[in-house]
Amino acid sequence: MSSSDSRPWPPPPLRIGDLVVDPPILQAPMAGFTNAAFRQVVRDYGGAGLLATEMVNARGFVWLDENTAEHPDRLWGVAEEARPLAVQIWDNDPDTMAKVGLRLAEEYQVSVVDINFGCPVRQVTQKAHSGSYLLREPERMFKIISQLVKACAPTPVTAKIRLGCTRDNVNCNEVARVVEEAGAAALTVHGRTAQDMFTGNADWDRISEIKSHLRNIPLIGNGDLDSAEKVVAAFKNYNVDGVMIARACLGRPWLFAQAAAALRGDPIPPDPTMQQQRECMLNHYRLVVDRFGEEKGTVLMRKYACCYAQGKRGARHFRSHVAKVTTRDDFYRVVDEHFPINAQVD
Ligand SMILES: Cc1cc2nc3c(=O)[nH]c(=O)nc-3n(C[C@H](O)[C@H](O)[C@H](O)COP(=O)(O)O)c2cc1C
Repeated sequence: MSSSDSRPWPPPPLRIGDLVVDPPILQAPMAGFTNAAFRQVVRDYGGAGLLATEMVNARGFVWLDENTAEHPDRLWGVAEEARPLAVQIWDNDPDTMAKVGLRLAEEYQVSVVDINFGCPVRQVTQKAHSGSYLLREPERMFKIISQLVKACAPTPVTAKIRLGCTRDNVNCNEVARVVEEAGAAALTVHGRTAQDMFTGNADWDRISEIKSHLRNIPLIGNGDLDSAEKVVAAFKNYNVDGVMIARACLGRPWLFAQAAAALRGDPIPPDPTMQQQRECMLNHYRLVVDRFGEEKGTVLMRKYACCYAQGKRGARHFRSHVAKVTTRDDFYRVVDEHFPINAQVD
C-alpha cells in the first residue's frame, strides 16, 4: 500500500485534457447497462464527475453508417444528453478507430473518447483481437491511440486497461507509458488481469504502482469500490487521481452522491428510503419503455430490477418473479409486491 499523505485533501478535480471532472469519481462503461436511461438516473442523483456509454464497436459503427445510414443503438441519447459524457469505442484498426473518433468528436461533440483495452470477453479478444487482447501488442496500442488523438483533437482521448492479459504477463507499467506517449489524456486501470475476469480482488497496489510510470496524465483506479468509505480509502491509500465505479452503481445509482459527500468530508447521505428506491426504479422503467416500447423495455428492465433488489430481503424471490415479466402490468405488480409503498429499507 502506498500512502499519499503529502497529497491534497480532499482530492482535487481531475483534469482530462481541458475537461474538469469534478468530483473525480467516474461512472464506468458497462455493456448492456450504461445506456441513456441508466445514465439519466445516475445524473439525477449527482456525484459522478464523468459518465460513460457502453462500449461501441467502431467497425460496426462504420458498417451501419455505410450500409444502412443508421448509427449503433448504443449511441442512443449521446447526441442530445447533458455533458460531460465519454463514449467508449473498441476495435484493433487505427484507421477505423480514427474515423469513428472524428465523428464522435465533431458530429456528436462528446466530451471524451475512451478506448477499451480491457474487455476480456472471447468475441472481443479471440474473435476480434481487440479489447484486452491488445495489451500484448503495445505498439499497436500506440498506433491506435496516436491516430485517434490526432483525429479527435481537441477532444481528449483516454484509455481503459486491465493489469495485463494474464497473471504471468502483468505489463501495465509499460502499457501506461505507451498510453501517455501516444497522447492519451488519462488512463483508467481495472486492477485485474483479463485472465482473472472478475475473480479475486482488484489489486490496488498494482494500480498504485503505475502512478510513477506516468509523467502528467491522471491515473483513475477501478475495481471493487462498493461504498463511499472504500472510495475515500482508495484516494487516501493509493496514488490515484480519480476512481471509477462499475457494478456497485447498477442497483445503487446514489452511490456517487454518497462517495462525493464522503470525499468532501460531509456526512454520507443515507440510502434512499424504500419508497424513493421504488420511485427510482419506476422512473428508470419509464425511461427504458419510452425508448424501447413496452415489450422490449420490460424485458430489458428485468436485469436492472434485479440489481435494485440486490442485498434486500426477499431479493431471490423478487428475481425469480421479475425474470418472467413481459408487460407493464406484470412489472408493476411484482414491484408492488416487493417494494411496497411505505416500506422501510432493510
Ligand atoms: C456487465 C458489465 C459490463 C461491462 N462492460 C464494460 C465495457 O463496455 N467497457 C469497459 O471498459 N468495461 C466494462 N466492464 C468492466 C467495468 O467497467 C469495470 O472495469 C469492472 O466491472 C470493475 O469495476 P467494479 O469492480 O467497480 O465493477 C463491464 C463490467 C460489467 C460487470
